Amino acid sequence: MFLTFVVLMVSTLCGSCENVSPTPGLKSFRQDYKNIEETCLAVGFVKNNCRNDSKTSKTSEDYQMVAFDVRLKYHKRNIATKARIMFETVDLNEGLGYNSSDGIFTAPSGGIYVFDWTILAWQGQTAYTSLVVNDQFKSWNHCHDIGSKTWPPCSKMTVVKLRKGDKVWIGVYSGTAHIFANHTSFSGFKL
Ligand SMILES: *[C@@H]1O[C@H](CO)[C@@H](O)[C@H](O)[C@H]1NC(C)=O
Ligand SMILES: *[C@@H]1O[C@H](CO)[C@@H](O)[C@H](O)[C@H]1NC(C)=O
Ligand SMILES: *[C@@H]1O[C@H](CO)[C@@H](O)[C@H](O)[C@H]1NC(C)=O
Repeated sequence: MFLTFVVLMVSTLCGSCENVSPTPGLKSFRQDYKNIEETCLAVGFVKNNCRNDSKTSKTSEDYQMVAFDVRLKYHKRNIATKARIMFETVDLNEGLGYNSSDGIFTAPSGGIYVFDWTILAWQGQTAYTSLVVNDQFKSWNHCHDIGSKTWPPCSKMTVVKLRKGDKVWIGVYSGTAHIFANHTSFSGFKL
């Protein structure tokens, strides 16, 4: 197998040797390089041996864009003040900033970020939530249904400046929150 490859390689390379211009320039260099690469691939030599493609799983550094969109899978009842809301269903996570295991978005890079969250409060109940940045409440979404007995969705959008590694989540800032899973979501992106 290896011998066959060497013979193939040598004969193909020598075949292309004849085409090399006597005054090598950038164009012929590119042409020769392309021929060698194509030969490698043609004889079934794995890609890795031609170029370094060993990196298969992306890390947050590989993404240009940061954007996520997540929502609740389960209803949340009796969530205490300061507790974090965990959005279990991840529909989009460009930049891998959001972690569904702990509900925390970690800024992959510094910059201006836009966040938006809609909470559907349980009928006759309340859900007072805030955007939390590194443990500090930053923006408040007051969802109150005591008395009206409807199912009110409450939305809030906010813009914050983050440094790389800052941690952002949705938390309860007051009272006990009761949240209906359907129609409750959290999203964000870097400008
Ligand atoms: C190939 O890429 C990997 C990951 O980026 C790196 O660790 C490795 O040193 C590279 N190998 C070569 C031969 O360049
Ligand atoms: C996601 O959060 C869990 C729980 O805190 C943690 O164990 C895990 O390492 C996190 N994943 C990433 C990619 O940071
Ligand atoms: C809520 O979502 C579940 C699962 O997707 C669905 O079965 C149910 O009908 C929905 N309920 C309402 C009131 O929208």
